[in-house]
Order: sequence, then structure tokens, then C-alpha cells
Amino acid sequence: MRLIIDTDAGIDDAQAIMMALAYPGVTIEAITCVTGNVHVNNVVPNVCTVLDVMRRDVPVYRGAERPLVADWKPEEHVHGKDGLGDWRDRPATTRRIETEHAANALVRLANAAPGEYTLVALGPLTNIALACQLDPAFPSKISQFVFMGGTIYAMGNTPNLTAEFNIYADPEAAYMTLRAFPMSAMLSWETTLEHPFPWPQWDALCAINSEAAHFLRHTSRVTVDLIKHSGYAGYLLPDPLAMAAALQPDLVRQSAEYYVTVELQGTHTRGQTILDHHARSGHAPNVRVVQALDTDGVYALYQRMLA
Ligand code: RIB
Ligand code: CA
Repeated sequence: MRLIIDTDAGIDDAQAIMMALAYPGVTIEAITCVTGNVHVNNVVPNVCTVLDVMRRDVPVYRGAERPLVADWKPEEHVHGKDGLGDWRDRPATTRRIETEHAANALVRLANAAPGEYTLVALGPLTNIALACQLDPAFPSKISQFVFMGGTIYAMGNTPNLTAEFNIYADPEAAYMTLRAFPMSAMLSWETTLEHPFPWPQWDALCAINSEAAHFLRHTSRVTVDLIKHSGYAGYLLPDPLAMAAALQPDLVRQSAEYYVTVELQGTHTRGQTILDHHARSGHAPNVRVVQALDTDGVYALYQRMLA
């Protein structure tokens, strides 16, 4: 698999990237960065730190500094000010990144190898939408597009109660992207809530004696406290579940195809993904909604990446 990852790393993004770096037979040929959880000025060094920890070299590209239209607000209460949990003893990175803009890199790579790349988006879809505007044929040159984002039944995690963060952060980009791709795969917030790692399993991962597990332990502390305080049944895995579904499709136990678009106007609903649950719109399905995954299989991917 030839993989491109677009990310607003992000603590769970970092874990998804580590999972892909450790997966056999996968070549990550680009990591494109976008403002989301934190500003892209923080996302870039966060990605570089993940590559340092995993001792891997992947071209990193800086992308959109802000959403297409929406105002941007950081998610510091979830990911910390630096986007990796404000880990005090975090090692500095000296890694250099590419000078090409992420959107231009996405278009160039897709044109250089049409039909070759799997694209996994882990943050707001700003870079993806820009690529679709630069080259309207971009979606047709991507073999598979998987994104973490959206809600199936309007159970969101943002001030607009029906909207999930990645879509809420840049609704226009999400609207344009879902309209441009003939088929995408969506890992929603509800699916995230239904597939946590039970706390004893999470604790066992954090207890592994490796540099990667040391990184996991120190960067995830912020989110662990927040998730436990929120009363969820275990450690939540939004971006890692999306990555697992892309890397190992047989981990998807249930999915269904729907026509999906994005609300751009609603006072309370802007950023909501709108699913045509009963095929009443007349539009052809454009999103395969992942509804169930084998979390034991996802756990095995964590064990591999932390070894
Ligand atoms: O709503 C969860 C998503 O928002 C994840 O991608 C997380 O990293 C944040 O970006
Ligand atoms: Ca993310």
C-alpha cells in the first residue's frame, strides 16, 4: 500500500501515524499537515517528533493555516497547547520538512501515480478540498479515501451538538470534499465512542517498555484524564480507528453506503454530516460509513507499533 496521511496532529493522530509506520507492506510517501487541533505551526513539529520517535523518514509538507471560511479555534483542552499533550520532557526535533505546499504535493503525487495512493485524512479537510480545487480530477486519481470525521446520528463533540470536530472545524472543506469524491470511507464520532480500548488494555499498552510506549504514555496523559473525567468506557481512538480501517479492511465488521453531505448554514447544526439514511434524496451513495470494527485487531496493531 502506498499511503498519504493528512493530519492535524494531535495526540490520536500521532498514534494513527505510528500505527501506519509499523504496518508491514505499507509505504507512507507523504504526511501533509493542516491546522485543526492546533495551528499547523505546531502540527509540523508534532509530526516530526513522531518520525523521530519511530526512527523513520517520510516527507512532511506544511498545508493550510486556517479553514477555508470558518474561524479557527484550537482544541488545547484536548491535545494541549503544543498538540502533543504538553509533554514537559519532549525531545526537540531538528528534522527539516519539504518546501512545497501540502495541497500542491497532494496534486503532484496523485498525478505522478494515478490510482496508486490510499489517502487517510485525520483532521479538517482543508488541504483535501484545496487539492480538489487545484485539480478537479484529483479524487479520480486516489485509489481509496478514508477520513475520520462526522456523525451518523448527530451525536457530535463540538459546541454545535450535532457536529464532530474535523467537519465542524472546516464545514466548507468537508462539503466540497464529499461532493468531489465518488466514494469515501467515514469513521464517525459515534463509531469512535462504541469502540474504545478498555482501561486495563490501555494501561497494558502504556506499560510496554519501549521508546514508542514511553511517547504514548507521556503524550496521552492529557486525553486520558479528559476521557476518564467524561465517563467514557475506555480510551477513545478516533484517528487510529480510521487508520486501522484503511490499513486492514478486514477489521471492519459492518459498514453501509449512504449519500452524505454537510450542513453549512444551521445555527445549531453547521458542520453536521447529513446522512440520507433511507435513500430519499435521489443522490447516489458517496460515503461508506464504518459502523463496527474488530477492536481486538486494532489492539494488535497497537502492540505491533509499540514493540
Ligand atoms: O473529533 C475527533 C477528531 O478531532 C480527531 O481527528 C482528533 O484528532 C481531532 O482532530
Ligand atoms: Ca485529528
